[in-house]
Amino acid sequence: MTDSASSDAVAALDAADPLRALRDRFALPDGVIYLDGNSLGPPPKAAFDEVSHAMRQEWGDGLIRSWNAAGWFTLTDTLGDRVGRLIGAEPGETVVTDTTSINIYKALHAALALRPDRGVILAEADSFPTDLYMAEGVAKSRPGTTLRLAASHEPIDTLIDERTAVVLINHVDYRSGVLRDMAGLTGRAQAAGALVVWDLCHSVGALPIDLNAAKADFAVGCTYKYLNGGPGAPAFVFAARRHHDRLAQPLSGWWGHAQPFAMASTFQAAPGIRRMLCGTQPILSLRALEAALDVFDDVDLAALRTKSLALTDLFMDLLAPISREFGLRIVTPSDPALRGSHVSVAFGHGYEVVQALIDRGIIGDFRAPDIMRFGFTPLYLRYRDVLDAAKALADILRSGAWQEPRFAIRSLVT
Ligand SMILES: Cc1ncc(COP(=O)(O)O)c(C=O)c1O
Repeated sequence: MTDSASSDAVAALDAADPLRALRDRFALPDGVIYLDGNSLGPPPKAAFDEVSHAMRQEWGDGLIRSWNAAGWFTLTDTLGDRVGRLIGAEPGETVVTDTTSINIYKALHAALALRPDRGVILAEADSFPTDLYMAEGVAKSRPGTTLRLAASHEPIDTLIDERTAVVLINHVDYRSGVLRDMAGLTGRAQAAGALVVWDLCHSVGALPIDLNAAKADFAVGCTYKYLNGGPGAPAFVFAARRHHDRLAQPLSGWWGHAQPFAMASTFQAAPGIRRMLCGTQPILSLRALEAALDVFDDVDLAALRTKSLALTDLFMDLLAPISREFGLRIVTPSDPALRGSHVSVAFGHGYEVVQALIDRGIIGDFRAPDIMRFGFTPLYLRYRDVLDAAKALADILRSGAWQEPRFAIRSLVT
């Protein structure tokens, strides 16, 4: 494809894009191509007014009355149901609360409590580290519980046996971008008597998810990536309704109490999913998330997925010749059924290349040891952005621009 042919082709794709109007709902800086919405989504414009209103009117004027009058106390549930709509949950099966890490802790404990005769948590050694660290913490806190890790070459389902209480797995792998078969793995685990906790951090808001169709037990995920809830926005936890009666988790704080304002001296769990709550939530962050979820009211998730796959396809096609020339390795599967919405590329000097791209306003990220990650959020990215990013990457490799010493300086956050 010549340069002008590819420019014409992407212009035609952008003109025909049914989601193109959504870009205007986000505040993106001029001159930036943002390929890191898989790590921190950009602000929806409406969030500025929403948070300002929450601060000035609800907090400033309403003061403590806003816990009732502005619905602050039940935001965990109302937003939970709105996230639930995006992940195939019924109302009352999801709450927005705490962090993904904390929700993993609670969900693993809840799953183990449902399988008292089994003591193994099974996870992947390549999983996002916090999942493993939290699983380690759970194992340490429960005598007789152990954490078993599947190595990269071991398909996790081949390790499920009669000792496995719960499988903890990332729906889309944060490093490789591989998408797991939710219904298949859930079915295999359940057939062996185990439960599954799905970590949806890299899939929620990026593709349609149907937890109940997959008969999923538990799920957790964050809202600051593809859902654009803001830095540190609270996470969510889902538990299938069939588990609610016997749902138990150890962080039994007053928000999870059946009658928090009865001020009883002993804990009695709330009915339903609210028993997964612990303590007071960051209301201003929840209000930013509320504005971010408004955007999804107008999004057809099937159209979102179609565009996501088209963007990642285009990027991988454009990368193929550069990869051969410079020894890059595209780690993300070319099969659309097997990938999420980011493309991972292994390269020994990936860190430096990503810094050189950021220097040109093309923002991706790097995950050790050698993965350059490029996230393609269909809500605000254009096909033109994909072409420009691929061209810049080629130029940085051809010119050797990444070799400038300043690009090798490691920041705290990569
Ligand atoms: C798969 C996965 N789980 C969990 C987290 C983070 O959890 P927390 O929000 O508790 O920091 C991330 C963050 O990138 C992630 O990718």
